[in-house]
Amino acid sequence: MRKKIVAGNWKMNLLDEEVINFIVDFNSRKNEIESDSEIIILPASIYLDTMISMPDWDIKIGAQNCSQFNNGAYTGEISAAMLRDFDYDSENLHYCLVGHSERREYFNEQNDVLAEKVNRLIENGLKPIYCCGEELQHRESESHFDWVQAQIEEGLFHLKEEELKQVVIAYEPVWAIGTGKTATSNQAQEMHAFIRSLIAKKYGDATANSISILYGGSCKPENASELFDQPDIDGGLIGGASLKVDSFIQIINSF
Ligand code: 13P
Repeated sequence: MRKKIVAGNWKMNLLDEEVINFIVDFNSRKNEIESDSEIIILPASIYLDTMISMPDWDIKIGAQNCSQFNNGAYTGEISAAMLRDFDYDSENLHYCLVGHSERREYFNEQNDVLAEKVNRLIENGLKPIYCCGEELQHRESESHFDWVQAQIEEGLFHLKEEELKQVVIAYEPVWAIGTGKTATSNQAQEMHAFIRSLIAKKYGDATANSISILYGGSCKPENASELFDQPDIDGGLIGGASLKVDSFIQIINSF
């Protein structure tokens, strides 16, 4: 069975005290969680340490970005080896986002660079959460499948089968991110099934059926159940609604 996952991408939000308050509040309400899905939080990297150091915090943690390079003169960057090194003993830091549409748009990250980031993470024993998704213009011109296919093939299909199995995919249509416009459950299911079929063609059905594909884009308590009920949607990558304990727990419980 595929892993069900609910991941909160905090983006560039919450300061140290707010991170601590979130965790204290979340921990005190753990008994409300009725789902067996894996829960991940992806804070700003500067607060990974705060999270890792919190007592009773057993939720998985991830970073939002890493460098495509191993090491060297890349001012401001954090390498995958540094992320791994950071939490070597307690092993709460398992994941790192790659290719979020905001990285693609504002930092001009292209599929070839993202493929290198995926490599660095896998080499260092971390699991990439690889994001893909079309812009509105692609959907309107009906080129959204081709667009997502290129993102998947160019970012991931150089991997060996065992390496690909380390990857989680997140489909986030850009027009749905932070806009309040969610893809309908049919639109999301159709794209998730398409992504899985691409994997099946290249790596076979067993591998395709083992990879979790998350939906992201204005996912909230009101629409999460319908999305998560779809056969190829294995969870959510949640932005705004993951910043509040209440809505995050409601989404987790939508499985
Ligand atoms: P919103 O849930 O705020 O639309 O953000 C989605 C997202 O980008 C998660 O990575």
